[in-house]
Amino acid sequence: MKRYRKNLNVLLPCFVVLALMSALVTYAPELYRKFCGATGYGGTTQRAYSDPAVTSDRTVTVAFDSNVAPDLPWRFEPEQRSVKVHLGEQKLVFFKAENLSDKPIVAHATYNVTPETSGLYFNKIQCFCFNEERLDPHQKVDMPVVFFVDPAFAKDADNLHVDTITLSYTFLRSAKPSGSKNLSRFLANAAPDPVHGEQLFTERCTACHALDSNKAGPSLGGVVGRRAGSVAGYHYSPALKSAGLTWSAATLDQWLADPKKFVPGVRMPVRVLDVPSRRDLVAYLQKVSQGAKHSDAEKADAPAGEY
Ligand code: HEC
Repeated sequence: MKRYRKNLNVLLPCFVVLALMSALVTYAPELYRKFCGATGYGGTTQRAYSDPAVTSDRTVTVAFDSNVAPDLPWRFEPEQRSVKVHLGEQKLVFFKAENLSDKPIVAHATYNVTPETSGLYFNKIQCFCFNEERLDPHQKVDMPVVFFVDPAFAKDADNLHVDTITLSYTFLRSAKPSGSKNLSRFLANAAPDPVHGEQLFTERCTACHALDSNKAGPSLGGVVGRRAGSVAGYHYSPALKSAGLTWSAATLDQWLADPKKFVPGVRMPVRVLDVPSRRDLVAYLQKVSQGAKHSDAEKADAPAGEY
């Protein structure tokens, strides 16, 4: 009996924690993610897929630090030591990597953010974190990182006196590389990759767009070659409706880089700051547009608003 009691004393808290975690997973995946980001993994950052809705007047300095494991003959450095950002402002920075050896080498990066209390608010939209990356002999690439600091940072008592957040990367040699990606995809002249584009589309566009129906944003099936602001049944901003644009690889690239700058007055709140991501997204949209041409022509006869 005594022994049973003792076991129960140990087990009960475990069950409580387990139940709490399951409840969190079931009812609040977002909370669970934050919980995991906040505990156990000091300085773990958050992965976000689109801009925050608000930007604030408060600024914070984000400093960059880079390290390379001693057995990895790579040079790896941030292009800038630090940047000042408004909370909520999306920012693009680059890290330079170069393979100094005569052999192709696969490596992967780990990262953390200090002080640890700021990790919860540090959101990366685009980065090369944790992927196994290959650099060919003497190859050099610029790797983009797009991030923002959540405006809620300003309200957290733990961060009241924090004016600098440091993002630190360490590149390690991968002993048994499997499924490594070639870092040359970050080169400006790399071939467009519609498969990567589809992944980006899922992560960053499907909150508002689908290929065959209107959501918060207009349907994007068949967008390449289509006049801007022309999907039946979607309520466009007057600015986009009267923009007189036709979507092509070039106009889509400009649109994605900064919709509100490209066509002042439009309502899309998302920007894709780095060139390789835009290139791959456009390749994906081109691919799905080829397949959509036929069914679009059929749909054109249907009454507006029925699909
Ligand atoms: C938060 C919601 C949101 C997200 C996320 C979003 N968009 Fe949009 N998008 C919109 C809205 C709203 C419009 C219509 C803008 C207007 O009418 O001014 C739009 C319009 C567009 C258009 C013009 C379509 C047309 O019919 O003229 C394109 C192209 C587009 N988005 C591409 C993308 C891509 C690619 C992504 C992912 C990188 C993306 N959008 C992410 C909300 C979003």
